[in-house]
Amino acid sequence: MSDTLFNKYGGFETFSTIASNFYKKVLDSEKIEHYFRDIDINRLISHQTNFLAKALGGPDKYKGRDLALAHANMNISSEDFNEVVELLEEALEEAGVEEADILTILSAIGGLKEQIVML
Ligand code: HEM
Repeated sequence: MSDTLFNKYGGFETFSTIASNFYKKVLDSEKIEHYFRDIDINRLISHQTNFLAKALGGPDKYKGRDLALAHANMNISSEDFNEVVELLEEALEEAGVEEADILTILSAIGGLKEQIVML
């Protein structure tokens, strides 16, 4: 099976590196780090790795909550959402993911916006 983005880029090892690099950026971002102050980041890295893996055609090991539930009551704005997407884009670029595949991934993530952002 080499037909999924999950397999193309080396499976869990790669996506765990991407997730951990992504949260480093999140914690360095003045705009959004405050959301993550009391959060166990290692647990989040593991959930995010499994979430991305599943979304990109890999095995389903995601044991986190439903996205709408996980982000409820946080008052996340559209601007905050865009910041997270930008940081994810950087992490994907730094891992060597091709531009066309980054666009595919970001458009899938963009589709999750209404579950995450306060309307
Ligand atoms: C861009 C799309 C996003 C995706 C795919 C995503 C995905 C996830 C996932 C899979 C979890 C783990 C859920 C769990 O542990 O049960 C999570 C938790 C979390 N996310 Fe997001 N997220 C996104 C955007 C955002 C944004 C924009 C913010 C804030 C600026 C944010 C803040 C958080 C926080 C603070 C948690 C931890 C919640 C907790 O443990 O109580 N997320 N996210």
